[in-house]
Amino acid sequence: MSESLSFAEKIAQAANFLPINGTDFIEFYCGNAKQAAHFYKTAFGFQSVAYAGPETGVRDRASYVLQQGKIRLVLTSALKSDHPISEHVRTHGDGVKMLALWVDDATKSFEETTKRGGKPYMEPTILKDANGEVCMSGIYTYGETVHLFVERKNYNGPFLPGYEVWESEYNPADCGLLYVDHCVGNVGWNRMLPTVKWYEEVMGFVNILSFDDKQINTEYSALMSKVMANGNGYVKFPINEPAEGKKKSQIEEYLDFYEGEGVQHIAVATKDIVKTVTDLKARGVEFLSAPPNAYYEMLPERVGKIDEDIQKLQKLGILVDRDEEGYLLQIFTKPVEDRPTLFFEIIERHGAQSFGAGNFKALFESIEREQAKRGNL
Ligand code: FE2
Repeated sequence: MSESLSFAEKIAQAANFLPINGTDFIEFYCGNAKQAAHFYKTAFGFQSVAYAGPETGVRDRASYVLQQGKIRLVLTSALKSDHPISEHVRTHGDGVKMLALWVDDATKSFEETTKRGGKPYMEPTILKDANGEVCMSGIYTYGETVHLFVERKNYNGPFLPGYEVWESEYNPADCGLLYVDHCVGNVGWNRMLPTVKWYEEVMGFVNILSFDDKQINTEYSALMSKVMANGNGYVKFPINEPAEGKKKSQIEEYLDFYEGEGVQHIAVATKDIVKTVTDLKARGVEFLSAPPNAYYEMLPERVGKIDEDIQKLQKLGILVDRDEEGYLLQIFTKPVEDRPTLFFEIIERHGAQSFGAGNFKALFESIEREQAKRGNL
């Protein structure tokens, strides 16, 4: 596909057999969902929404639903060891199992994707309670990760059938997080191109941006990345593959510790990154260390005029990049699990539709400082 097309022009070339309204929810399989829910409320400002577990008639698991802006997280633990969720946690540690997509027709979504080669995870299934019904289906993507298709036009309960409203007396304020901007998957050696092809053929997505290992490398570590988007651009899944460097790629470190392919980071948008990051830091969220002073000294020359005070950005370690359509501000947390696997990105866009390639080098050098501390470089 021509590199000269704009993002909007590339997205317009996506197929239309799988209309998607946006991200419905992201479900983590956790060792202790109750404590994870407390962390996402306390540290990230998510709000209590719904709960399912033994008290609501679900015997084998407990699930906590949290929301901030349009971002809905579900944290789930199994209650016994011989459960697929426990198996998942044993292998991968806490991590993302479901990237659920909001669709108008979950049956058609399943049929269209499985006839194109999608591997079924869940046949179209109707779930009902007093609040109406939801149709859900799902297919596997990379690793053990699943795309669920959620059709909820006939439902008005707090989340899904079987869940009850979660009334909590502990409700920390939100941190200004608004919606999921993109979710990144890490795949194994030589697996990026087949995964890109899978998103094109099975999901009808288009590749809107590519980086190779010449663009994304530091002295030691390298990776390749391609960004896949659906036909309205609401859903974007960048795919990373490790590349050869002098030392171990950070993508390889992820694959070793997640014990397979999976979600590397979830990028969430804010309208005021300085306020959001100040709040998150005060609540104990740990971010990658700021790039060297030289990064901020070079900034006016590299990105031109921006509205924000560069000294404030430097104090917080916020990164800046520019493309043809505008600029963006971004920052990355440290991994939120003990295994060096999943992390979050906070992003504020001012027109820019890209992903901060100009920051990759500065970022990687920062990640590698952490990787070296863990003895994995
Ligand atoms: Fe990102």
